[in-house]
Amino acid sequence: MTTSQLPRIAIYPGSFDPLTNGHVDIIERGARIFDSIIVAILGNVEKTPLFSEKERVEILRNVFKGHANVQVETFSGLLVDYAQLKKASVIVRGLRAVSDFEYEFQMALMNRHLAPGIETVFMMPAEQYTYISSRLIKEVFTLGGEVTGLVPPIVEEKLRGKQKAKK
Ligand SMILES: Nc1ncnc2c1ncn2[C@@H]1O[C@H](COP(=O)(O)OP(=O)(O)OP(=O)(O)O)[C@@H](O)[C@H]1O
Ligand SMILES: [Mg+2]
Repeated sequence: MTTSQLPRIAIYPGSFDPLTNGHVDIIERGARIFDSIIVAILGNVEKTPLFSEKERVEILRNVFKGHANVQVETFSGLLVDYAQLKKASVIVRGLRAVSDFEYEFQMALMNRHLAPGIETVFMMPAEQYTYISSRLIKEVFTLGGEVTGLVPPIVEEKLRGKQKAKK
């Protein structure tokens, strides 16, 4: 088949505010099965993200600088439009628990309705990351909890920086 000659580009969208080891796990798995994976940072979902778009890009590019087939970009608007623009045929999403399922199921089918040629692929992280979310990381860190091992070292550093800036 001629289609198998085309590079298989996947897109992994999210807010990544901030990047966690759960995200890193999914990106690494994606990078192993697709020719390339574009981590697409959603620009303006939340009104007040902890990390600006620019900071999130910087963190992700830093963490994946050694991975030639991982690209980090930002996007706004419809994901399927952005995927088509980037010639991506796959949307990667992570599934942590049943609680993710309902929303992800709706999104996957809506995206299929909008763009039938794009498949959504779900991946499970390693068990030790299944309970991690960006929201919980921010909450725990703000309350003085330890997040070592749950986020890349650079994220921990940046969280400390935010804390200092606030004081
Ligand atoms: N620990 C994790 N393991 C596997 N997939 C994850 C994990 N955390 C997030 N994901 C997946 O990554 C994608 C992007 O998620 P997102 O940026 O919303 O992260 P999040 O941790 O859910 O953040 P928030 O708590 O702000 O919602 C989603 O498909 C989400 O299910
Ligand atoms: Mg989420």
